Amino acid sequence: MVDRLEVRQADITTLPVDAIVNAANTSLLGGGGVDGAIHRAAGPRLLEACRTIGGCPTGEARITPGFDLPARWVIHTVGPVWHGGHRGEDELIASCYRESLALAERAGARTIAFPAISTGAYGFPMACAARIAVAEIAAWLQGHPAVDRVILVVRGEEALHAHRDALAEMGG
Ligand code: APR
Repeated sequence: MVDRLEVRQADITTLPVDAIVNAANTSLLGGGGVDGAIHRAAGPRLLEACRTIGGCPTGEARITPGFDLPARWVIHTVGPVWHGGHRGEDELIASCYRESLALAERAGARTIAFPAISTGAYGFPMACAARIAVAEIAAWLQGHPAVDRVILVVRGEEALHAHRDALAEMGG
């Protein structure tokens, strides 16, 4: 039973959680998709903060304040671009979830919201990404009781069904 993990259709920039995760690129200087939405909602101070970080390798994560967002923190993680699945994409996307959770917990976040990392511009197949996300988060939560809730925030029916199916397969 994965009682501290839920799937929810929403705009992640509106959620009053402690930390939201951004699906960024290695420059951390913004982009489209959820990256663009988060920067728009957080305001220009987010880009200023990201500039001081100096980028982020794929599979890793960096943390900044949320500025004008309802969320206190933004955790920027860089998912893999999908190249067919033979360049370590599965391990890299799993690392994004683990690294983001570790950073959030270190910052004292108790509620964390993720978008479906890499499933947009980076082309990661939704069903596969959803299974990895649910498995990684569920496994991580087992060893980290300090985190109260993780929300997988999805947009659209395909993402909703893929993540709900993945959660159901885990007994969630
Ligand atoms: N709230 C929640 N989820 C969202 C939102 C939002 N406001 N906007 C988009 N999404 C969803 C998309 O539907 C998709 O399922 O986020 C998921 C990730 O899609 P992208 O934002 O395209 O991210 P990704 O596939 O990881 O590509 C990252 O795109 O925006 C650029 O700078 C970014 O270069 C990086 C690349």
